[in-house]
Amino acid sequence: MADGTGLQRFAVPLHPMRRMLITHAKALVGTHPAGVERIAGRAMADLPLIADAWLLIEDGRIAALGSMSELPATIDPKGVTIIDASGCYVLPGWCDPHTHTVFAAPREEEFVDKIKGLSYQEIADKGGGILNSARKLRAMDEEELYQGSRKRLEEMMHQGTVAVEIKSGYGLSLDSELKMLRVAQRLKASLPLQIRTTLLAAHALPPEYKEDRGSYIDLICDTLIPQVAAEGLADFVDVFCETNYFTVAEMERVLEAGALHGLPGKVHVNQFTSIGGIQSAVKHGALSVDHLEVMEEADLDALAGSSTIPTLLPSCSFFLRIPYGPARQLMDRDLPVALATDHNPGSTPSGNMNLVLSLACIQLRMLPEEAITAMTLNSAAAMGVQNELGSISVGKRASLIITRPVPSLAYLPYAFGNDHIQTVIIDGTTVRS
Ligand code: NIG
Ligand code: FE
Repeated sequence: MADGTGLQRFAVPLHPMRRMLITHAKALVGTHPAGVERIAGRAMADLPLIADAWLLIEDGRIAALGSMSELPATIDPKGVTIIDASGCYVLPGWCDPHTHTVFAAPREEEFVDKIKGLSYQEIADKGGGILNSARKLRAMDEEELYQGSRKRLEEMMHQGTVAVEIKSGYGLSLDSELKMLRVAQRLKASLPLQIRTTLLAAHALPPEYKEDRGSYIDLICDTLIPQVAAEGLADFVDVFCETNYFTVAEMERVLEAGALHGLPGKVHVNQFTSIGGIQSAVKHGALSVDHLEVMEEADLDALAGSSTIPTLLPSCSFFLRIPYGPARQLMDRDLPVALATDHNPGSTPSGNMNLVLSLACIQLRMLPEEAITAMTLNSAAAMGVQNELGSISVGKRASLIITRPVPSLAYLPYAFGNDHIQTVIIDGTTVRS
């Protein structure tokens, strides 16, 4: 990629404030050729990089890059912010394609109940779980919800996340689902990171519909989806397709209504039980199927050859002490695995993708290169931003992580729990240094 185009770009007069030159990087990581949108199977381990490299940012985009031996000697240093990245890796910022990060309050009391031995279902039966979050969210005003969610997103940016998918699903009524999505839109407008939003009204059955589930699905399909689509409040639809939550038939109704209004599916399936959700989501052209902790052979078979991206959430498995998703089996079937945090107050009170990287290597047995592919390019694809983010390619958004000096790429997941990030840049602006 150290080609003539890169060298020519230096000759063009540029606005001084909008240029940044990173030099002497130990390596630029994930330098995929333009047009590569996702990587499947064994190829996930072939993470392209350029050692001892430079990278130029102009107007928030990656303008040029190459190896130091080819850095032109004639760069006009005036107005260029130069970052010496000696000993440091430059990576594409993390893309987190599955979160519930707009929520009202944490639920650490349930965490303590879990330590005492209560199951996810027992906690839900006690009035905890998703309905607990829904009660709190319905009572909270929009401004407070915005401020709390903003703090969490700022922390995620600090940890290297440059794109986030945010779901509704703690409103569970027309007004409160819309409130959540409006807050997410406000976050999108006010923070530099890329945000995509998902309508997850089918997250749990609201108590007022206990005797009439059909009417709640009607509300989602006939009112919420059309309104959300008309107002541009969401990019995707989601359903918690699970025993005791929503059936496959109910998910199909939501996916069909979403498709009618141009909202593809990104669905929760196979977290606790295998009930045919994957087969149906694939048939309905879902962009991603997420969780996949409980997988049967037929579930894996259904994914083979499809364009639906399996998205694994190892920090949810860690927190709930449930099985981990079958990353190796998915990759053996030549599928493009993506990784996400699932940040939410119930099953994953962490939005830290660096922890996901360590858990992916330690618990999913992904190689560091495979896991990095899964949380950059593949996770960008799982939220539809692969043409903008997910790799270090000329023309993409300059949303990057510069690590501290580290001995190797494998050191990042290996030395787990430590902070290896020195600088985070989003669209060419430093958000952490
Ligand atoms: O993805 N599984 C469904 N939803 C969330 C948990 C939500 C909650 O407990 O508040 C998840 O893990
Ligand atoms: Fe989730």
